[in-house]
Amino acid sequence: MPAKQTQLEGEVYYPSQEVIQQAVLKDWDELAQFAERDLEGFWEREAEQLVWFKRWDKVLDASQAPFYKWFVGGKVNIAYNAVDRHLLTFRKNKLALIWEAEDGKSERTFSYYALNREVNRMANIIKSMGVGKGDRVTIYMGRIPEIVFAMLACAKIGAIHSVVFGGFSVDALQGRIADSESKLVITCDGAYQNGKLVELKRIVDEALKHCPTVENVIVVRRTGHEVPMESMRDHWYHDMCALPIANGKCPTEEMDAEDPLFILYTSGSTGKPKAILHTHGGYMVGTYATLKYVFDINDEDRFWCTADPGWITGHSYLVYGPLVNGATVFMFEGGPAYPYPNRWWQLIERFGITIFYTAPTAIRGLMRFGEAWPNKHDLSSLRLLGTVGEPINPEAWKWFYRVIGKERCPIMDTWWQTETGAFMITPTPVVPLKPGSGTRPFFGQVAEIVDEHGNPVPDGSEGYLVLTRPWPSMLRTIYKDPERYISQYWSKYPGKYMTGDSARRDKDGYFWIIGRVDDVIKVSGHRLGTAEIESALITHPAVAESAAIGLPHEIKGQAIHCFVQLKPGFAPSEELSEELRQHVARHLGPIARPEEVRFIDKLPKTRSGKIMRRVLKARAQGLPEGDLSTLEE
Ligand code: PRX
Repeated sequence: MPAKQTQLEGEVYYPSQEVIQQAVLKDWDELAQFAERDLEGFWEREAEQLVWFKRWDKVLDASQAPFYKWFVGGKVNIAYNAVDRHLLTFRKNKLALIWEAEDGKSERTFSYYALNREVNRMANIIKSMGVGKGDRVTIYMGRIPEIVFAMLACAKIGAIHSVVFGGFSVDALQGRIADSESKLVITCDGAYQNGKLVELKRIVDEALKHCPTVENVIVVRRTGHEVPMESMRDHWYHDMCALPIANGKCPTEEMDAEDPLFILYTSGSTGKPKAILHTHGGYMVGTYATLKYVFDINDEDRFWCTADPGWITGHSYLVYGPLVNGATVFMFEGGPAYPYPNRWWQLIERFGITIFYTAPTAIRGLMRFGEAWPNKHDLSSLRLLGTVGEPINPEAWKWFYRVIGKERCPIMDTWWQTETGAFMITPTPVVPLKPGSGTRPFFGQVAEIVDEHGNPVPDGSEGYLVLTRPWPSMLRTIYKDPERYISQYWSKYPGKYMTGDSARRDKDGYFWIIGRVDDVIKVSGHRLGTAEIESALITHPAVAESAAIGLPHEIKGQAIHCFVQLKPGFAPSEELSEELRQHVARHLGPIARPEEVRFIDKLPKTRSGKIMRRVLKARAQGLPEGDLSTLEE
């Protein structure tokens, strides 16, 4: 370890000799310096580790920034790199995917060879429905192996997938299908959540009433309960699999490096969710390299990322990143504490998980049940831990470190976003850790903390977090809305990517994320927009106007609180408040159910009519309300 790293300020956890010896990357500084000197050279070296049908002519084209292009002229397919290429190596018979059902009654495993056949079958079925390169496919499923097949199958034939989290409901699904103009929806009859059935297919039926572009629906059977099937439009997956068309061989579409791989809707500061667009080449190289260095993946590992494929973490580090690295992925259908709070610990022991990547909210939730639950299990297979999605409080960090990692396993606190596609601020196993900090930017990246005008603030002060260098897995645009891409991310500080987060940097160059500065609420690490919640509320006949804010919550990080102005003729009551909470959950999804709905005579607004959420937030917490000069009379 270089001398400067031994003199860090604050509470520091240094890697053990054992961790350093095992790590693929022993000298962080050397690689960081190389990437700083030669950004393109660094990423080119990573890209060279993967299979390209044709090599790129140029690593980075910044001539039309911020519409950056990576590996220009290259021909590639991420699905080929995630699956097919491993069949030519010893990994052919290695386990690619291990899956366990929520109720523990079934377990399915797929070697790379088997995964390849499954993906090809699904790809052939999708193709038979007239879906091809560039067409959009919405995937709305529970956490079952077929969601992985569906994503990879789309990638293989060049279709653009749009995965919608199964915890979203009709309005959210419909808006996303309509905006993407999907031709095909892939879903399942239902999903299980804490033993309860979620009627995914019925939600799809409801959503499709207003989505004329959808020609076909593939339905995977998971729960076996009765669901209505519309003839001509709906097809059981198992019936399709029995057809000769569904054979296990399918050619891979040779894609341009810059061709779209997927869109993923995420909430922004205002308005409708935005479709973030990622590409085959850059996204592949970014997820591959970040996972390799940060989680130190090797062929002995069993990697478990608890995220759902419906979020970016699931895309990058449950599906693409680990498979491109040839790792063994573990996927669990259920949540952390069903039927008992030892469910996850039991799985780590049973499957010999070596790397465990989860969210602070889950850690805080499990911590509540006490140490006895994890202590029942042998967790000695673990060698690395990770967190993502929101800041982790030092108390939860230390519990994770001590009780789960037994003070042996470094915690990779990875800061990144749907837009960044891959880790941006993160340690690697050899980097000394400070609980609550994601440490420093990943190789090749430079992060700054700036004030309102874009000037760097002194170390230790809070400011806006910006990224100043392009990276391969960066979003390319907002689908169908390039102007919004510029205005949202690149116009406030020209030449710098605006993250939407506030943060500070300490004297050691370590970054400490504080939280979002826009109207995004992070509920249990899930990203929701105030506008989405408010649009759901307004569809209720009693609601004249509403405002949603996020307030601190012990387990969820933030919880949704709503303020509602009622229409004349409606009176505030406990029942109405409860009804409105249910209403949001029904329309948007259970994850968006407000913690509380309060009634208010008049929402605080600026003279130009903008709701001052900041004032509501301050009032709700009994804090000073700040500058009120723009508040209307
Ligand atoms: O506020 C940051 C927070 O999550 C936001 C991005 O949300 P999303 O696009 O849903 O992606 C989440 C998973 C990558 C960021 O702007 N965030 C993410 N990771 C961290 C975090 N905040 C603090 N620490 C993290 N490790």
